[in-house]
Amino acid sequence: MTNYNPLRSLPGPSGYTKGDVFVLFGELFGRGYANGLVDEARKAGMTIIGITVGRRDTDGSLRALTDAELAASEEILGGKIINIPLEAGFDMDRSVSGISPVDQLKGIKTDGWDSAEFDWEAIEQSRKAGIERFTTNLAKVMEEMDALIPDGVNVLFSHTMAGGIPRARILMPVLNRVFKGQGDRFTPSEVFWETALGKLCSICFDEVTANTFQHLVEFSSKTRERVESSGKKVAYTAYGYHGCEVLINGVYTWQSYTPYLQGWAKMRLEDIASAAWEKGVRATVFNCPEIQTNSSALFLGVEISLYPLLAALEREGGGPSLERITSACSQLLNEGTTVQELLAQADRYLADPLLIPSHDYATWPHHNTSEQASLMLNSATSMLEMNKDPKNIVCAELSRAVFQAVGRLMFRTSWQPGAPVFWLNHEIVAREIVAGG
Ligand SMILES: NC(=O)c1ccc[n+]([C@@H]2O[C@H](COP(=O)([O-])OP(=O)(O)OC[C@H]3O[C@@H](n4cnc5c(N)ncnc54)[C@H](O)[C@@H]3O)[C@@H](O)[C@H]2O)c1
Repeated sequence: MTNYNPLRSLPGPSGYTKGDVFVLFGELFGRGYANGLVDEARKAGMTIIGITVGRRDTDGSLRALTDAELAASEEILGGKIINIPLEAGFDMDRSVSGISPVDQLKGIKTDGWDSAEFDWEAIEQSRKAGIERFTTNLAKVMEEMDALIPDGVNVLFSHTMAGGIPRARILMPVLNRVFKGQGDRFTPSEVFWETALGKLCSICFDEVTANTFQHLVEFSSKTRERVESSGKKVAYTAYGYHGCEVLINGVYTWQSYTPYLQGWAKMRLEDIASAAWEKGVRATVFNCPEIQTNSSALFLGVEISLYPLLAALEREGGGPSLERITSACSQLLNEGTTVQELLAQADRYLADPLLIPSHDYATWPHHNTSEQASLMLNSATSMLEMNKDPKNIVCAELSRAVFQAVGRLMFRTSWQPGAPVFWLNHEIVAREIVAGG
């Protein structure tokens, strides 16, 4: 396992300037982590290039974006998107006999999912077909991209890809039991993870969340060598998650959302960065705090660790940014409810003895238990109910503050990265926000 390596001091300025190139390797969504880095690249005057994962037609085939979709995505990104579909994973790729993993999942019923068995040979063939499809398209993307990158500029690649849950109907009720279930509607994550369905998810997560980073590093080698031979820099960043230190009872304490089933894939992502680093490639995974995004929305409770950011802001010096964020949060809470009450409740939850196992770094990722899941889900719901409007919540305000600060930290660190894996805990994120004023 990667040695725990938190970023403890604020990075110096970056040297990226106008004309340098920023490549976003993943799509950009309104509240996603990538916005932070894209903002920094824009501010530095960098040329922004993006990719698309493509879209699936109703018959299941993968296609590039239509002109209208492309124009809309380019406007959001503020840069050119290379329109060759780079969906990773293999859930819809066919085996030699024409069966995809999603086809295999079709007949599974809600009362028999835990004993379902698969044709693993066909799944392996699909996996290989998915990699073949992805890398064939990636080679074309990289050729177009290389032509867009002039000599004599620095290049920063930002990998954001994560996911891989097979798109089969059966997964939703099953995952709801694992992540949101209580009492007799609860299935422990370990039970799920040990089933054939769990094993399939694990392989899918590895492909999307981790192996795409390796493909990116490999398939951009021609560009990297050209840029580096002209004396300029090429760096790669990726977003990881491997727990996060937050203030609990006034002490910065490493903790994790449980059950984080992408955790094994995220450790693989760290290994990929470390292996690339050994070969002289400046690839760095930044393990980031829990925030609310399109991707984390399924995981009710992940956002509880975000509330103590307000306490961290105070600990790290407060000032105008703390006042601004606290005042914005206060306005979102019910009449008569205070930020202090919210913080006290989050602290009570995070300090609960039931959560002590999730403070053990060495045994991460942890599986959930019925008691811990109930405590988390009930605490999360009670804190969400403190907001006036369920569509406009404190977590959104805090998430934005975090992804902006994380973007600034990653951007500057990537100029002189120093290590293949860093943790961006609440302490450094809060210091960055406070320093921003
Ligand atoms: N949200 C959190 O709490 C959190 C915490 C730490 C790290 N991260 C990481 O940050 C990164 C961005 O996630 P986010 O939470 O901002 O959500 P997001 O939904 O904005 O981003 C998810 C990204 O994954 C890409 N993606 C999804 N499925 C894909 C597929 N099959 N093939 C290729 N690309 C695919 C999307 O295009 C998008 O760029 C991810 O790596 C995520 O694991 C998130």
